[in-house]
Amino acid sequence: MSSAPDRSIAIVLGTRPEEIKLSVLIALLGDQARVIHTGQHYSPDLTSHHRPHLQLQVGGRHRGVQIGTATAQLTEAWQADPPAVVIVQGDTNAALAGALAANAIEVPLIHVEAGLRSHDRAMPEEHNRIVIDHLADLCCAATEQHVTNLWAEGIPDSRIVLTGNPIVEAVRLAERDHAAAQQVTAPLAGQPYVLCTLHRPENVDQADRLRRVLASLAELDLPVVLAIHPRTRQRVCDFGLGHLLYGLHVVQPLSYSTFLAVAERAALLISDSGGIQEEASVLGVRLLVLRRSTERPEALGEDCKLVPHPEQLGDLAREMIARSGRPFTGSSPFGDGRASVRIADLSEMVATGALDEYTSVRSMATTSGG
Ligand code: UD1
Repeated sequence: MSSAPDRSIAIVLGTRPEEIKLSVLIALLGDQARVIHTGQHYSPDLTSHHRPHLQLQVGGRHRGVQIGTATAQLTEAWQADPPAVVIVQGDTNAALAGALAANAIEVPLIHVEAGLRSHDRAMPEEHNRIVIDHLADLCCAATEQHVTNLWAEGIPDSRIVLTGNPIVEAVRLAERDHAAAQQVTAPLAGQPYVLCTLHRPENVDQADRLRRVLASLAELDLPVVLAIHPRTRQRVCDFGLGHLLYGLHVVQPLSYSTFLAVAERAALLISDSGGIQEEASVLGVRLLVLRRSTERPEALGEDCKLVPHPEQLGDLAREMIARSGRPFTGSSPFGDGRASVRIADLSEMVATGALDEYTSVRSMATTSGG
């Protein structure tokens, strides 16, 4: 890496997937990194044990209040001690607040996982990611499709870098807690199983949809391990649907090392998570995406299918499980495992004002050997 910048590199995050995806980058940046957690995820089940340099407490409030409060608090913190560059990842309220505050204090902004588009305006994440991409000085796109999405909105090539997605190396480098995984699946007595996670508003915020989802899961041919998200548990309780959990093997959200070990041994994954679409492609595990749209169409194919209606789960799960004996099709479209290294290098270049060395930084993927 190039010489150390004069000032720190601020990383704003607030949710479980951001902590996972940025873990390798934060480790690479070492002492230069100043991690700020907005508290968007505040359940101990969804936060890591790493201590941020600054912890905000915006969780549990309305989306607008979270974004506004975190933006104000970040702006105040950075007015006193401005970072050289701000990094945000993905499409959370925390990422949007980080982007707005960086813009307000005129510090360069890097957006990791830029250019995703579901074209679904009902998703708050879609609005967040569009705004962040347009504020960012450097958009780190994971795939050619994401680059094309950014061009389509008029973002110039000079602000786009094709880096890959740091999830690839996060999955490869993360530990697997096989002992904990065995405990989780012990009640299934060695049977093959489906691992499921659910938390998107489109699946859990309406009683009828959530009832249909849980009923369809309980009717699958294989037992279902449901790592229940706090939001989903709350909705099950609010809607009086607790009885529908009896047909499932419900467990608390798993630590990442346990999740990966359970996922690797699953016959099939079912999820509405964005990150799990990427992870499944790295792990080589088949996935049904229980959503009406996806911002990751490059993941779709024989081994990863979009399922808009829960009633389709039974047939599609049977079809997928029947393919278990066959090799997984293709490698992950999300990168080569060097995205974090590229983004760390770029951050230092931005921090030291050396980025102009790259006229079109899209060539970086080739110049840096991958
Ligand atoms: C959302 C966004 C995604 C963005 C991310 C961070 C969408 C659809 N999703 O993440 O684009 O990259 O914010 O900005 O807009 N996991 C565990 N234990 C469990 C269950 C899951 O560790 O019990 C892990 C998964 O392996 C995965 C992550 O948690 O790494 C997924 O978190 P989730 O809360 O599902 O968020 P996303 O939808 O991925």
